[in-house]
Amino acid sequence: METPPPIRIMFVCLGNICRSPAAQAVMQKLVQDHGVSDRFQIDSSGTAGYHIGALPDARMIAAGDKRGIPMTSRAKKLIADHLSHRDLIIAMDRENLANIQRLSNGKTGNVQLLSDFLDQSWPRDVPDPYYGEDDGFEYVLDMLEAACPAILKSSLESNPKCN
Ligand code: 4NP
Repeated sequence: METPPPIRIMFVCLGNICRSPAAQAVMQKLVQDHGVSDRFQIDSSGTAGYHIGALPDARMIAAGDKRGIPMTSRAKKLIADHLSHRDLIIAMDRENLANIQRLSNGKTGNVQLLSDFLDQSWPRDVPDPYYGEDDGFEYVLDMLEAACPAILKSSLESNPKCN
């Protein structure tokens, strides 16, 4: 049987140094832990280009280290081409979502908010931790660790291996 094409997921925030690289890392660890990393291509980007080429924020790397979630991605800016070459684009907040929609010329069928994968006890937006305290980074990881199993389940259900 032919190997199915990978399921391509991109997480998007503003600067691509806090929330979306953390989401990428949480999701990457999850697919590895489930033995399905060969089925996924996971990356992230920012709607702003302030930090292109940078590693994730040191505070986010430290928060990830405490949970065994390594973060080694380099920041890149979201471009329109990404949108047509991903199966699922996940925005961290509604402002990112609006920016993605502007870039996509109305073709937003594959764009969702991270909180679409959470129950309503969580906020609609993943709060931007950049100007806050360390507990903000922990909260972002809590939210991502709650959402990513639902993203994995939904992705595997909508991309069955043998079709
Ligand atoms: P992120 O956080 O969007 O989660 O990566 C931010 C990082 C940097 C800035 C804002 C938010 N900044 O203004 O430089």
